Amino acid sequence: MYPQSALLNVMTHAAQKAARGLVRDFGEIENLQVSKKGTADFVSTADKKSEKILVYELTKARPNFGFLLEEGGEIEGCDTSKRWIIDPLDGTTNFLHGLPHFAISIALERDGEPFAGVVYEPVTDQMFTAERGQGAHLNKHRIRVSARADLTESLFATGMPFAGRDGHEQFLQQLEAVMVETAGVRRFGSAALDLAYVAAGRFDGFWETGLQPWDIAAGIVLVREAGGFVTDMDGKNDMLKSGNIIAANDQLHGTLSKILAKSATP
Ligand code: IPD
Ligand code: CA
Ligand code: CA
Repeated sequence: MYPQSALLNVMTHAAQKAARGLVRDFGEIENLQVSKKGTADFVSTADKKSEKILVYELTKARPNFGFLLEEGGEIEGCDTSKRWIIDPLDGTTNFLHGLPHFAISIALERDGEPFAGVVYEPVTDQMFTAERGQGAHLNKHRIRVSARADLTESLFATGMPFAGRDGHEQFLQQLEAVMVETAGVRRFGSAALDLAYVAAGRFDGFWETGLQPWDIAAGIVLVREAGGFVTDMDGKNDMLKSGNIIAANDQLHGTLSKILAKSATP
């Protein structure tokens, strides 16, 4: 086990506090599934409550930093070079359906670049942490991306567009191009955890389009600190702006990028 920095202590502490409420609310979902009112309203209060706790805890520890919040939008801090980028509940659809695969995602952005990231999966108590130059860890044990280089043995994660989102056609082309060459593709429903699992070497790569900064900011630090590569679909570092991301181990990032680029050619 390694001695965690003060910054990561602040982030993991906040995640654990917020997670308690989420786990409690998740336990209630089963009862609500059968009630007439349904679960949608309940979930939207669950993520707002989680966000409130995160903002409170992080402000207490670092009063000058700003925020970019999924629910609450932007809050400018006195120190404009640092802000927290937060998804208080990533994997809402899973949560809503009683599927125990969801997470809290907290990133610290410094001068416009993700600098530290925490992705916490409360149900399994898996705390993924990373800070630039310090490596990536799962429950304080070092993690690395996989060493797989053979596509036919490699497993990829993705996110597929759903009702109200663009890019269905393009996604089907990408999926076809990847699935014919690999050991498989998974759609687990939390982009933050998809990236954390790439960092831990469980998935060999991940791609998705149409994401928001809070879905991926923490995961980007995790994958990079675990030795993987992260770019957008154009090979640039503009993931937070474009919402498109390709993350993979160092051996497969180039190959995955090429397959995806080729799939888009008419
Ligand atoms: C969603 C998840 C999902 C991804 C969606 C996101 P939410 O975030 O990360 O995996 O495919 O694009 O919106 O709504 O559960 O916070
Ligand atoms: Ca999200
Ligand atoms: Ca969310």
